[in-house]
Amino acid sequence: MTDKKIDTIRLQRLARAFTETAVFYAAIDLELFTHVSQGAGDLPSLAAAMGTSELNAERLVVCALALGLLERTSEGIIVNAPDCEKFMVKGTDRYAGPWMTFTRKEVPDWFTLTDKLRDPSPPSELGLYDDLTVEKARSYHRATYSIGMGAGRRFCREVDLGGRTKMMDLGGGSGAYSINAVQAFPGLEAVVFDLPPVTVVTQEYLELNGVADRVSTLGGDFINDQLPEGCDVAVMASNLPIYNAANIQKVVQKAFDALAPGGEMHLVGETLNADGIGPVDAAMWGMAEVNYRSGGRSHSVSECIGYFETAGFVDVGNVEFIPGTLTRTFGRKPA
Ligand SMILES: C[S@@+](CC[C@H](N)C(=O)[O-])C[C@H]1O[C@@H](n2cnc3c(N)ncnc32)[C@H](O)[C@@H]1O
Repeated sequence: MTDKKIDTIRLQRLARAFTETAVFYAAIDLELFTHVSQGAGDLPSLAAAMGTSELNAERLVVCALALGLLERTSEGIIVNAPDCEKFMVKGTDRYAGPWMTFTRKEVPDWFTLTDKLRDPSPPSELGLYDDLTVEKARSYHRATYSIGMGAGRRFCREVDLGGRTKMMDLGGGSGAYSINAVQAFPGLEAVVFDLPPVTVVTQEYLELNGVADRVSTLGGDFINDQLPEGCDVAVMASNLPIYNAANIQKVVQKAFDALAPGGEMHLVGETLNADGIGPVDAAMWGMAEVNYRSGGRSHSVSECIGYFETAGFVDVGNVEFIPGTLTRTFGRKPA
């Protein structure tokens, strides 16, 4: 048996991975994928559309081809890769540009991570949300809405809420899960429970989607305030790394206590594998909390199952939701 060759290739790639992010942001700023979708298929037309020199258009296109963001047809025409065509074309329903640049303002923080990791000051409970205003919430949820609607649609394809009557959407943000749920299940109503400045923004999305008569909002802190009563479904999505184990256990317990007998809970979160190793994205969301100075961290699938079982849920399980990023932990409150 020959020894596997050990080299520096992976390490070099890691050392320069930031260049890939930078090129992707520049392509979004210059609306590269939008122009390609609209028919700019060669360097002169792309340079004209983006307002760059042909040399710089070429540099960008070469990188985007290398990254697999663009493709070249056998006739030599530049086209978008399928995911860029579906999600990166401005002005379309599925445009996810705001989500793709959601953490862009944090770039300088990531490059001073060493200092933050050494910082001995204690974390705050709410971290990122400590000084939340309606305006900040509006900008934040422009991004979460651009990705959350797809996740909400997927949730409703995978979870049958037929026969359920009321869902509490904990940290529901834009209301993406609730909007999709009441549209998919005619007998269902929902309440989005989120921090007070957020619920102002939630209301705007509920009206935009014509569901304000079936989805209400309630402002509060799900760690410390009372949760809505009279619900037979609880959903908590994309909040997991914001909090430590004690606080996640607390919310899951509160949801269990507030749910009607026989009700169900779904925790959709950025989750580490059962052994705590990977995926990278779940690990990085935990690390991002250093920048927000919160006490949050990544949680594993086994921990999530434990939170549910400790709270009293039965038929507890966990399934992959978005490969490499999100899983869904579920359980039922005994009738
Ligand atoms: C990343 S967003 C996810 C929004 C939505 N669930 C989705 O998946 O599109 C996290 C949300 O949790 C809310 N949140 C965080 N901590 C909270 C708390 N203690 N009480 C209520 N809401 C909270 C935030 O305000 C934000 O709207």
